[in-house]
Amino acid sequence: MKVGILTSGGDCPGINATIRGVCKAAVNHYGMEVYGIRNGFRGLLDDDIVRLDNNSLTGLLNLGGTILGTSRVKPFKRRGSGAFSEDKPAILLQTIKDHQLDCIVCIGGNGTQKTAARLAEMGVNVVGIPKTIDNDVWGTDVSFGFDSAVSIATDAIDRLHSTASSHQRVMVIEVMGHKAGWIALYSGMAGGGDIILLPEIPYDMHRIGDAIIDRLKRGKPYSIVVVAEGIQTLGGKKAAQYIAEEIEYETGFETRETVLGYIQRGGAPTAYDRNLATRMGGHAVDLIAQGRFGKMVALRGDSIDSVALSEVAGKLKLVTEEHDLVVQGRHMGICFG
Ligand code: F6P
Repeated sequence: MKVGILTSGGDCPGINATIRGVCKAAVNHYGMEVYGIRNGFRGLLDDDIVRLDNNSLTGLLNLGGTILGTSRVKPFKRRGSGAFSEDKPAILLQTIKDHQLDCIVCIGGNGTQKTAARLAEMGVNVVGIPKTIDNDVWGTDVSFGFDSAVSIATDAIDRLHSTASSHQRVMVIEVMGHKAGWIALYSGMAGGGDIILLPEIPYDMHRIGDAIIDRLKRGKPYSIVVVAEGIQTLGGKKAAQYIAEEIEYETGFETRETVLGYIQRGGAPTAYDRNLATRMGGHAVDLIAQGRFGKMVALRGDSIDSVALSEVAGKLKLVTEEHDLVVQGRHMGICFG
């Protein structure tokens, strides 16, 4: 059995641990051959494929990024005319055939799982593994990378507290998450944010201003505001810049902004992410060995399971008002907008 493996979309901590998990289970336990496809789906278009063996895996468990490289190439994206550029799907199929790959493991976020579902429709044996710091892949409770990003963002919020209180300022910190507020919610709550703004919950600038002034009246002349990058703003402004300007206007408080950016995606995965990545990688190989294709590995509660790629494709997992961290946050007086 020849297994191809690729990593596609934005990188995150834990991808290399997953590659290691897939390879070790495939090679050592099942006696399969594993081939690394470089730079996501671009590697299938460029015929850029290398054999992976135990020697390729040294030091991968805690290494950030992806040793295979990644790209945001979308082979099924049509041109304006409706035609595929250069008939990319046909090139993909040919490369898979040329290398006699029996199946492809696609490690990636929503876009990757959508492409994986299209490949499955075309008869390719595919298994998806969810990967994103954003935690917005539908069908899995958690994706690896999320815990690492939350831990980095929480550390940053902790550090902003001391400078905010020393200078009696409002500190606005923008975290990633694309259209979802998971990183903002989890890091904001863990970091003791006073105001947490998520794309899923509409906000009102007057209420935010009142919350900051209320804190001053309670003897707290500083505030920490955690904003997700995906919140609505006016004038095409970035989240942190817009909210910081509006807070100064509403309250007259000196306000500073911090955009955490790609630091959230870099470096070593947390222990939780290493283990989740290892479990998901191993489960993907079990599915392959059982001939159960067209599926994405998923965490459900405490167990690793799988879900049909056709069910995952095109959906987003967003924060809801009913999420217990939102409910508990509201009980604690945190302003969600
Ligand atoms: O999907 C992960 C993510 O880091 C998002 O949080 C962010 O919006 C996006 O990728 C940034 O993408 P790029 O790497 O293309 O700048």
